[in-house]
Amino acid sequence: MTTAVTKKFIQGLPKAELHLHIEGTLEPELKLKLAKRNNINIGQSTIEEVRKTYDYDDLASFLAVYYPAMNVLQQEEDFYDLTMDYLQRAAQNNVRHVEIFFDPQAHTSRGIAFKTVINGLYRATVDARALNVDAHLIMCFLRDFSRESARKTLIEALNYQDKIIGVGLDSDEHNNPPMKFFNQFTIATEHGLHVTAHADIDQKDSIEHIRELLEVIGVERVDHGTNIVEDPDLVKFAAKNNIGFTSCPLSNSFVSPEMKGKEVIELLNNNVKVSIHSDDPAYFGGYIAGNYSTFADKFNLTKEQVVTLARNSFETSWISDQQKAIYLTELEEYAKNN
Ligand code: HPA
Ligand code: ZN
Repeated sequence: MTTAVTKKFIQGLPKAELHLHIEGTLEPELKLKLAKRNNINIGQSTIEEVRKTYDYDDLASFLAVYYPAMNVLQQEEDFYDLTMDYLQRAAQNNVRHVEIFFDPQAHTSRGIAFKTVINGLYRATVDARALNVDAHLIMCFLRDFSRESARKTLIEALNYQDKIIGVGLDSDEHNNPPMKFFNQFTIATEHGLHVTAHADIDQKDSIEHIRELLEVIGVERVDHGTNIVEDPDLVKFAAKNNIGFTSCPLSNSFVSPEMKGKEVIELLNNNVKVSIHSDDPAYFGGYIAGNYSTFADKFNLTKEQVVTLARNSFETSWISDQQKAIYLTELEEYAKNN
């Protein structure tokens, strides 16, 4: 049986992208170009050779490939090109609004200035308005770095507060609970920044970490977080409080064959605002439309379910109610006419 939802429908569907690591959009082509520009020997000279290094089967083995690859990012122009390349693809996927994660500590720890990173990223988000994509930046703390490093990073980021809409938490979750960063989340909130955090799938302490995020830290979204289905009370809490859950089927498929599809459907059935995103598309084989259609095909989603996923992405995005209304009207019109 073929699904009622076509690739064409998904491609044209207006979407918000809320779980996208800009460093995870470094395609082999750009990696080679930047290596040349900056005179860096990365050990590979063809796209095929670069792709062969993309070999991983869990979060830790992925991160071991992911962070060293960032060495090619050196100058403001490199960060600009990375972001602009991504935003072109976002426009092709009919992403109307995107909140982009970036990891400043992955760059400052190797001697790149915070301002080099943020100025390059931000300038691309401004220029992308010409592509009809509304792009914003979320600064993530690396959870396997120290609290002190996070504290210094947040202080520096507050100098650029007009360029950042919120903070997040990513990298290796093993023995790095959200509460390690309670102070930074509190300070960020006091400065009017939005707050989200990763709860990667099938971690040692998944439920405990999700509980800390929802009940103590008070995040507005959880990135991944589908293990919440193991605790019905937390699911009820998430539904009642309109917490967003940003699931990424293609990246999940590297560690879990069912790509957490059943859990996403269960969350939809429980009126939790779960939505579909792309995580690190250059590493996991697809941008947002690819994530939607892989999931829709495998689980025979209905058109209504697909539209609900897109609606949830706008509803849990960090924009004004007026902006949301504009995007949601566009979405409902599209769903009616296609
Ligand atoms: N989880 C944790 N850290 C990450 C991820 C992720 O999915 N992607 C990039 N950094
Ligand atoms: Zn992620």
